[in-house]
Amino acid sequence: MVSAAAGVAAALTSLRGCDFLSSADFNPEETAAVLQLASQLKSGDRRIDLGNRVLGLIFSKASTRTRVSFQVAMARLGGQTVDLNPSVTQLGRGEPLEDTARVLSRYCDALAIRTFAQQEIADYAHWASVPVINALTDLEHPCQALADFLTMQEVHGDLAGQTLAYIGDGNNVAHSLMLCGALLGVNVRIGCPAGFEPLSGVLDQARSLAQHGAVIELTSDPRQAVSGAQAVYTDVWASMGQEAEQAEREKAFTGFCLDRDLLDQADQSAIVLHCLPAHRGEEISAEVMESSASRIFDQAENRLHAQQALLAALLGGL
Ligand code: CP
Ligand code: NVA
Repeated sequence: MVSAAAGVAAALTSLRGCDFLSSADFNPEETAAVLQLASQLKSGDRRIDLGNRVLGLIFSKASTRTRVSFQVAMARLGGQTVDLNPSVTQLGRGEPLEDTARVLSRYCDALAIRTFAQQEIADYAHWASVPVINALTDLEHPCQALADFLTMQEVHGDLAGQTLAYIGDGNNVAHSLMLCGALLGVNVRIGCPAGFEPLSGVLDQARSLAQHGAVIELTSDPRQAVSGAQAVYTDVWASMGQEAEQAEREKAFTGFCLDRDLLDQADQSAIVLHCLPAHRGEEISAEVMESSASRIFDQAENRLHAQQALLAALLGGL
């Protein structure tokens, strides 16, 4: 019989050298083990020194939290980051990805990439010989989901059987919440207007991955989605790259603002989450954002702890 600690250690060791392109790239044990290591690193029970490893950051979209939390995570682990913004490298002048990925693998120990198409990071992962981390694509935001469930676990304890309701656009954040939630045994309810649902393929994938009988549900009624949930989550209605659709989306999402009335449908102990940046008065009211139920800034902090754990596992610094 393998002890729980040995099981966690084995799950983390199995991640050495892996890519993290999707929440579904890790199995349930690996996902839970990364959360456990994140909470040990946060509390100071565990210290890890990666010894001068270098993480390359290739960001084609704006970022505050993801960029800075990766920079600080590497610094805390004794390593460093290099900023490979495509506008200042030969990438921006059309150097092929397959060449860039192979060259950067000779300098960096891992690459964190934020871009539009999921296929692009899949191509990087194919050509790179070091771990590639999805720092957000149009399809997924898996690092965010790790921090989100770490935050929920800190408040509610064992995640299996808890319910997280996500209200708004069926976007990258919603996709990773469904997949990561399914792996952790969390019921995930998505409430979004018709025409803005998550991809049916991701919904099916989440349902097939669901542990401990977790149910992944979709509804167009925000009140039904939130009813009795232990966490209520929202994100912007127009993601990066969809700025031209802002006005049309504001109309389509009428009734989907996370305000006091909607929050009152949730469990009494419910926490409020938002990946940020937020648009107060659109997807979330200023009152709810600043309410005592809000764990939004703990959640932002947890990006750092979750990514430290992720980097330690992928880079084999355990
Ligand atoms: N939540 C998140 O990914 O924030 P940034 O866009 O600032 O990185
Ligand atoms: N869905 C948002 C998340 C930002 C962190 C976007 O892709 O812009």
